[in-house]
Amino acid sequence: MALTSELGKQIKLKEVEGTLLQPATVDNWSQIQSFEAKPDDLLICTYPKAGTTWIQEIVDMIEQNGDLEKCQRAIIQHRHPFIEWARPPQPSARNAKDCMVSYYHFQRMNHMLPDPGTWEEYFETFINGKVVWGSWFDHVKGWWKMKDRYHILFLFYEDIKRDPKHEIRKVMQFMGKNLDETVLDKIVQETSFEKMKENPMTNRSTVSKSIMDQSISSFMRKGTVGDWKNHFTVAQNERFDEIYRKKMEGTFINFCMEL
Ligand code: A3P
Repeated sequence: MALTSELGKQIKLKEVEGTLLQPATVDNWSQIQSFEAKPDDLLICTYPKAGTTWIQEIVDMIEQNGDLEKCQRAIIQHRHPFIEWARPPQPSARNAKDCMVSYYHFQRMNHMLPDPGTWEEYFETFINGKVVWGSWFDHVKGWWKMKDRYHILFLFYEDIKRDPKHEIRKVMQFMGKNLDETVLDKIVQETSFEKMKENPMTNRSTVSKSIMDQSISSFMRKGTVGDWKNHFTVAQNERFDEIYRKKMEGTFINFCMEL
């Protein structure tokens, strides 16, 4: 334990064009950049902790239940606009406050990422974009601007939470698939938080404790909207809202902050 948390503290991030990344990612950056997509690849472009695993599971299940002859590859990337990689992209956003909370707990348990420090310290780190994959604000703003120019399906974590079938149907249509209502219902069930928390393919239980220590915090932690209320002080909330207004100026996205 002592050894692994020491290891976590020693992680030194590197930068690519001002964005902090894990050293292993930077060391392979030229390979990542020269990646060539096939025309029907599906690119999932989430900010970390916005529900990447959830979307991936939804896409996989639609794929498995669809026409097997025409399998698409789903590729995940967290970096904001990098559109030449593949099309059509599918960005998914989650409100910034819940993302911050989720990322904080993820950094506590993930020994491949720097120790987040106290919640107060992490608050500063996050709003300054000094986290792996950079600023939430840049990511969301970047994709929001792109969404009308390209064939993009922009999804919100909160919408999937509120009406999973409706959002899963959108993904299905975007992927050009046509599934029965009963299959859609099955996908809704199988991709629920409770099911994915039990599923070893999605709950990361196969990952070694020296990498992800789930006794500190589960990978499938809470899966809710509004957990930020249990973390933000009133002063932090006011300050965050002010920063949000400045950084997101001109970008009118109506994030749902509680359900
Ligand atoms: P919390 O830490 O708030 O619980 P990512 O896959 O991008 O790392 O995102 C992880 C976040 O998505 C975690 O949020 C996790 O619980 C949540 N999540 C994963 N699957 C989910 C599901 N089926 N329903 C709701 N939330 C889910």
